[in-house]
Amino acid sequence: MKRILLSILALASFTGIALADEGMWLPALISQRIGDMQAKGFKLSAEDVYSVNQASLKDAVVLFGGGCTGEIVSDEGLLLTNHHCGYGFIQRHSSVEHDYLKDGFWAMDRSQELPNRGLTVSFLQRMEEVTDQVLKGYDKSMTELQRDSVIRVNSGELVRAAMEEGKGLRASVEALYYGNQYFLFVYKIYRDVRLVGAPPSSIGKFGGDTDNWMWPRHTGDFSIFRIYADKDNEPADYSEDNVPYKPRRFFKISRKGVKEGDFTFVYGCPGSTKEYVMSEEVKYTAEVSDPQKIALRTKRLDIQKKYMNASQAVRIQYSSKNAGVSNAWKKWQGEEKGIKKMKTVAAKQAFERKFNKWAEGTEYEGLVDKLGALYAERNPYFRAQEYYSETVRAIEILSFASGVVSTLERDRSAAPNAESFFKDYYQPIDEETFVAMMEAFDSQMEDRFKPEYFKEKLAEYGSVKAWKDDLFKKTVFTDKAKVSALTSADLESLYEDPAYELYNAFMAWFYEDIRPVVDEANAKIRLANRDYMRGQMAFEPDKAFYPDANLTLRVAYGHVAGYHPADGMYYAPVSTLKGIIEKDNPEIFDYNIPQALRDIYAQGGHDDQAVCFLATNHTSGGNSGSPVINADGNLIGINFDRVWEGTMSDIAFDPEVCRNISLDIRYLLFVVDKIGHASYLFDEMDFAD
Ligand code: ARG
Ligand code: GLU
Repeated sequence: MKRILLSILALASFTGIALADEGMWLPALISQRIGDMQAKGFKLSAEDVYSVNQASLKDAVVLFGGGCTGEIVSDEGLLLTNHHCGYGFIQRHSSVEHDYLKDGFWAMDRSQELPNRGLTVSFLQRMEEVTDQVLKGYDKSMTELQRDSVIRVNSGELVRAAMEEGKGLRASVEALYYGNQYFLFVYKIYRDVRLVGAPPSSIGKFGGDTDNWMWPRHTGDFSIFRIYADKDNEPADYSEDNVPYKPRRFFKISRKGVKEGDFTFVYGCPGSTKEYVMSEEVKYTAEVSDPQKIALRTKRLDIQKKYMNASQAVRIQYSSKNAGVSNAWKKWQGEEKGIKKMKTVAAKQAFERKFNKWAEGTEYEGLVDKLGALYAERNPYFRAQEYYSETVRAIEILSFASGVVSTLERDRSAAPNAESFFKDYYQPIDEETFVAMMEAFDSQMEDRFKPEYFKEKLAEYGSVKAWKDDLFKKTVFTDKAKVSALTSADLESLYEDPAYELYNAFMAWFYEDIRPVVDEANAKIRLANRDYMRGQMAFEPDKAFYPDANLTLRVAYGHVAGYHPADGMYYAPVSTLKGIIEKDNPEIFDYNIPQALRDIYAQGGHDDQAVCFLATNHTSGGNSGSPVINADGNLIGINFDRVWEGTMSDIAFDPEVCRNISLDIRYLLFVVDKIGHASYLFDEMDFAD
């Protein structure tokens, strides 16, 4: 059986014809796609893209931190990524005297570069298929539990052996295609990564959450770092003795610019997609999950915005929290609309009917129905889980209470860190959020999904509002001085604090009544999806399949292209400085550009300065910071977003409207030079033309 499966997988990828520019391909298998890439304009070879033996483009791409991508652009370890990927680190270096978020930061020489505790970059050393090794000793008569333990033991050995090959290595075995294939990934991790430059947020986050996920876009979303190594070029903790890392390969920069139709190649680490799930899962996402999460977050954002608009101090306190809530909120809206517009549920149902016919008399007979039943069983519980995490978990005082208690429980001498919580806490927002979230929970959850504690409290107080008033009056967790003075001797009374009590009651309910049901159902769904995935590959042997994203390195190729967001509208693929000036408005926070930029523009000659561009590359969250590469293999941009109408590409890719948004590398050069006055950095870069 495994033989047959492997040959199906091989056949599928060798003969496969990809639809338009959909797909996130494994670099190690890029020889299967290189013909198509070259037909579309790419001039390099498969070995240039990925090679274990010689330097290749993959050696210039890193996983940046835990969820972004970055690329190397000099022989001395200079790295580019997005501003929003470096944001947290830039913020940590900022104070009232040195507000690098607001004003930008530019090291004028190496001695001024700022170290970042906890920041790592991971270079992929190699990836290789290990399905046979991982399943060694497994046979069909075993139970799933036995299979899992075979996989665990074999994977553990592979990982151990791989990590012994060198210093600073991390290895992992990842399941692809729901466990029909296994790959070993070996990374080398560098941990001395210093901040070199960042534009002011009014450039790096220009347009803010208003323009987020949208076109036309004018965000200078980049930041610059440098990787340091020990004298042998090996990973090391921060030390003054460390030296700039010498990469095996770095990107040359092209200043040629882009035009509609140009070949583009995004090399990066997309985080998570679900392209092969059945209609029930898509239906749940578009009809239940996305709408309920959007509605809840709309309430939270409205409350935040009301207070942020009324006070500058509150705006600063909540800007980062607000951005986090808003980013997914906006994406889900695009996703819900996109799935409905594409009629993905109906398309999947039609596919399933054909699949079912074909499956008659095979091992796949009845599989889709079985999956559907599993989803039907899971979804009410899953909905409760999602509702819990978007309501109870959104009330800040509750998580804070739990954090303080567990700190005191863990380390009896530790003082709770109240300072950092209260620095960004505004109680009226939290009180209103409490009322809005708990009222939603009460009106939207079926009775069987309400914790007893919740029902009792509501009965006791008569309304959420009255409950809230009393809770905020009695809890100790809103009082910074009192919280700071807490010790483990107070634990007994803290267990009875109304905020902690509420949190704890919901936690107990969640872990006893909800989570186990969801987990068990998900385990069954995963198993059925393994069969369904294999079945889809057998059913469509001529189709090119790519594994769902899992934060491993992928190749997405396409071309520069505009799109029609709606009937009668066309979006051109390139934006310019002229558009920034058109949006500029000192009254609107998101559009208030630095005076320096106004002055430079006023000198004339910069109307056509390119800023961002659109292309058809299939990307996802995690691709932020990814290099965008031209036909010659040179760097033309940095990926940072997708367009709103195309955010359903995590589930279904529509070549008509799915577009990734990239920063034009020439705008980065412009800002580094004209705003940062740091053009000394160009000396170490290599310009292709
Ligand atoms: N939408 C992009 C991503 O998913 C950018 C988010 C950061 N920008 C913002 N305005 N919140 O990460
Ligand atoms: N901004 C996203 C990120 O941080 C990339 C946009 C997307 O989801 O494609 O990874």
